[in-house]
Amino acid sequence: MKLAEFKSLGLAAALVSAVHLRAAELPPAATRPVDFVKDVQPILSSRCYECHGEKKQKAELRWDAKGAALKGGEHGAPIVPGRSAESLIIQMVAGLKGDDLRMPAKGEPLGAEQIGLLRAWIDQGAVWPDGVDLVKVVDAREHWAFKAPGRPAPPESRGPKSEIPSTRSSSTD
Ligand code: HEC
Repeated sequence: MKLAEFKSLGLAAALVSAVHLRAAELPPAATRPVDFVKDVQPILSSRCYECHGEKKQKAELRWDAKGAALKGGEHGAPIVPGRSAESLIIQMVAGLKGDDLRMPAKGEPLGAEQIGLLRAWIDQGAVWPDGVDLVKVVDAREHWAFKAPGRPAPPESRGPKSEIPSTRSSSTD
């Protein structure tokens, strides 16, 4: 192996182990299937909505509405589906960004079990079902008052589809 190749391998290994070291500081992800409504939403509502909800949106971030939460705040998307260790939300609740940036910014830090549930939820794809949020955050431009009035589209016919067999042969030659 050439020396340059050897060196870059060494560098890659060092980078990989640095990421592993950071990940090792995190409480392990829960191993069971995690459900957003049962496992995740209660943590967000009891510990995060106070500052990231209807009344306050610290760092322009709110956790009580799917669209707003996934879009994120000042630092962009706080959740990377499938990669909890790289997700800002996990780094912040685990205090990896420093103690003054540990979330929640008030009260007891989250316990290892709660962080494990958040991690597992993200690693399992961060599935946030539609229609489970208690608030509906409407983008101002999406609001009906900003749309030109128009006729509603006619309902689609629900009658049985006609099944007229094609007389054309399916061969193309
Ligand atoms: C007491 C208020 C408070 C509570 C409760 C709180 N936060 Fe925060 N959060 C803040 C403040 C203030 C900032 C901005 C920090 C800064 O940039 O200095 C912030 C920033 C963040 C950010 C970074 C957003 C960005 O893009 O910059 C994330 C992620 C976050 N909070 C997640 C959470 C989570 C998850 C919870 C609940 C477990 C939570 N926070 C609870 C006050 C709070």
